[in-house]
Amino acid sequence: MNYIGIDKHILVENSKIGCDLYLKVHVNGTSRYVLFCHGSEQYGTVRKGELVERSIERLYIQAKDYEKFFKYQEENLPCILESIDLGPKEKSRAVYHVAKKLTKDILQNIGGTEIDIDRAKNWVKYTIGFILNDPGAFSSLLSMTSHDYYTYTHSINLSVIGLLFGKHLNLSSENLNSLGTGMLLHDAGKVLIPLEILNNPGKLTKHEFEIVKQHPEAGFKLLRDQNNMEEKFLIPAIRHHENYDGTGYPYGIGGDDIELNGRISRIVDVYDAITTKRCYAGAMSPFAALDEMREQMIHCIDKELFQEFIRLLGPADRGLLNKA
Ligand SMILES: [Fe+2]
Ligand SMILES: [Fe+2]
Repeated sequence: MNYIGIDKHILVENSKIGCDLYLKVHVNGTSRYVLFCHGSEQYGTVRKGELVERSIERLYIQAKDYEKFFKYQEENLPCILESIDLGPKEKSRAVYHVAKKLTKDILQNIGGTEIDIDRAKNWVKYTIGFILNDPGAFSSLLSMTSHDYYTYTHSINLSVIGLLFGKHLNLSSENLNSLGTGMLLHDAGKVLIPLEILNNPGKLTKHEFEIVKQHPEAGFKLLRDQNNMEEKFLIPAIRHHENYDGTGYPYGIGGDDIELNGRISRIVDVYDAITTKRCYAGAMSPFAALDEMREQMIHCIDKELFQEFIRLLGPADRGLLNKA
């Protein structure tokens, strides 16, 4: 059996964890895991006191229970993010774990019946609170962005980077909410693109590219038909491939005809696509990605906004700012 370590401070007092908790004990030079708290048991003051008494900082869960543990963190996210015992790194990890589970669930269900948009809205709400209140949130969240090519990790990166950017731009909390939720769902239409096209390592044929180009509108329609979906959440989905000079898709609109959240989505989408290690390219450093955006994709994006984006991510590099 495989076990995964967790920080004890992530456990909220008087909550039910939903999966068994183990302690790692060392006996005669070998280590083994012993049951500490049953999943259905309340993790209360007595259990907490035992850990303090024995100076235990880390607990373990079985690897197979990881998704259950993500769910537990989702249910307790406000408490976790307000905890005075947890640092920004642990909090950021919880933010990412929760997002991973809920984005996967939402994207898997999106073509079917109803998706639970409230889960996404809640996650965005708590993440905004964390970003606004914890000075350590920026760098710890940014270091969590994971550079693989899954649509759900890309979506989480976009939402998190979008929220950090939105805060930098002093957007209202209402606008931050629609930006964060919209960005989490922006590539929903990709569920309709065949995987062999989505993961194609080579250059797409004209026909394949036409299919890929359908995903903003497909996502817009899929999301629009969901319960509880407000129009403002749909802007990232329908606009994130529109270029500032009007050469993008699906409508080829440009300039300020693209709503602010659409222009932000375009910048962050390009940035994450470049920095992310996808099946056909290697990952790139933030500096190199910003430089490539400036050199090759500046027509795609709102230049003034891009300067702010450089201020956000590369404040030490004035040279880049001057060139943009
Ligand atoms: Fe996209
Ligand atoms: Fe995207």
